[in-house]
Amino acid sequence: MSLLSLSGVTRSVDLPDAPPLHILRGVDLEVSVGDHVSIVGRSGSGKSTLLNLLGLLDNPTEGEIRFDDKRISAMSGNERDRCRGRNVGFIFQQFNLLSGRTALENVMTPLLYASGQQFWRRKQLALDMLGRVGLDSRAQSMPEKLSGGEQQRVAIARALVRGPRLILADEPTGALDVETGATVMALLDEVAEASGAALITITHDVNVAALARRHYRLDQGVLAPVDVKRVLALQPGATP
Ligand SMILES: Nc1ncnc2c1ncn2[C@@H]1O[C@H](COP(=O)(O)OP(=O)(O)OP(=O)(O)O)[C@@H](O)[C@H]1O
Ligand SMILES: [Mg+2]
Repeated sequence: MSLLSLSGVTRSVDLPDAPPLHILRGVDLEVSVGDHVSIVGRSGSGKSTLLNLLGLLDNPTEGEIRFDDKRISAMSGNERDRCRGRNVGFIFQQFNLLSGRTALENVMTPLLYASGQQFWRRKQLALDMLGRVGLDSRAQSMPEKLSGGEQQRVAIARALVRGPRLILADEPTGALDVETGATVMALLDEVAEASGAALITITHDVNVAALARRHYRLDQGVLAPVDVKRVLALQPGATP
């Protein structure tokens, strides 16, 4: 079942005294429930620009984005915000946790915008989610007292606490050492799978990308599927 689809999506920006910059060119992508997709690309290839479109944070210049088969362009700003809040969880390279708030408060934050049971049971839901990432004993810790890997696990709990159907991870292991990154990625893959959410991982790291089931490469704004062997061959030092 298609969850998110992009067809013929472009994103251009007007520059003063220069021709427009075509950041994304004719991107087509279908993401189904439970899918795990990786997107690799060099710096400047358009990854963050694409992520903003996938996360319903921005509009394409041309083409169409559908979520649950509904056209995003036909939604009002409020409808789009609600759709994003209910359905999309974000994980970033720099964790983006709120300082001065405990791990538990951080994980509870998205539930402040929820309604009904999710709002009233927010503390218990956040504690359960912290348990699922193995951090129940650190619920009262401040982020700055946690290691990088632990902070990213809190960020994963926060991204998943509302039960999103789409998780977008932008360089989720970029600030972690290789071993911690691998552990965090395995956990993300596992919790995403257990919750039936689709996961899109944008990364420079071919080993992280290889964990996904379908692989794409973004090159100067053009998105094309690649075989996992080709993804691994992109690794510096690997024999292509
Ligand atoms: N609003 C904007 N105005 C002008 N240029 C922009 C804008 N947004 C992005 N760009 C340009 O578009 C290109 C792609 O940017 P983007 O941030 O999507 O790259 P990226 O693949 O995420 O790179 P990185 O790996 O370094 O984060 C870059 O050359 C960037 O300078
Ligand atoms: Mg980027």
